[in-house]
Amino acid sequence: MILRPPPPAPEAAVKPILVLNGPNLNLLGEREPEVYGRETLADVEALCRAAAKGAAIDFRQTNDEAEMIGWIHAARREAAAIVINPAAWTHTSVAILDALSAFEGPVIEVHLSNVHRRESFRHHSYVSSRADAVIAGAGSQGYVFGIERALRLLGR
Ligand code: DQA
Repeated sequence: MILRPPPPAPEAAVKPILVLNGPNLNLLGEREPEVYGRETLADVEALCRAAAKGAAIDFRQTNDEAEMIGWIHAARREAAAIVINPAAWTHTSVAILDALSAFEGPVIEVHLSNVHRRESFRHHSYVSSRADAVIAGAGSQGYVFGIERALRLLGR
């Protein structure tokens, strides 16, 4: 009889990188393509999976701030790092900043557009004071940079 070791407990399994997308990003590819490009969110997800080099990616989008906060809370147990495009909540949400501050792993903030070249209300980010890195203006490639940075910070 071959004795195999038991499977690892779920907590011991390698946790995924959580990629979170805020409001209106479901319309990527259709919405203001001159600002955000023609790629869809499904295209961005595929780029993230390719950049992860086999690491697990949990990719999500919501237009509901409470749902986003719930996902960030669950990440405290379930995710190794968070890559987040908080979209408009970047500029408005202390609640998302506070939720991210309760997460102990790396947090990478990504924006498709260069928010600093746009309207002045986009120049301030509540999230940046918690983020380990901030990437803006690199289009969908910014997500690739974000995943690569998260992997580096995780030592993977
Ligand atoms: C964005 C920039 C935000 O100012 C805007 O509200 C978005 C998208 C970006 O990816 O460039 O919805 O986060």
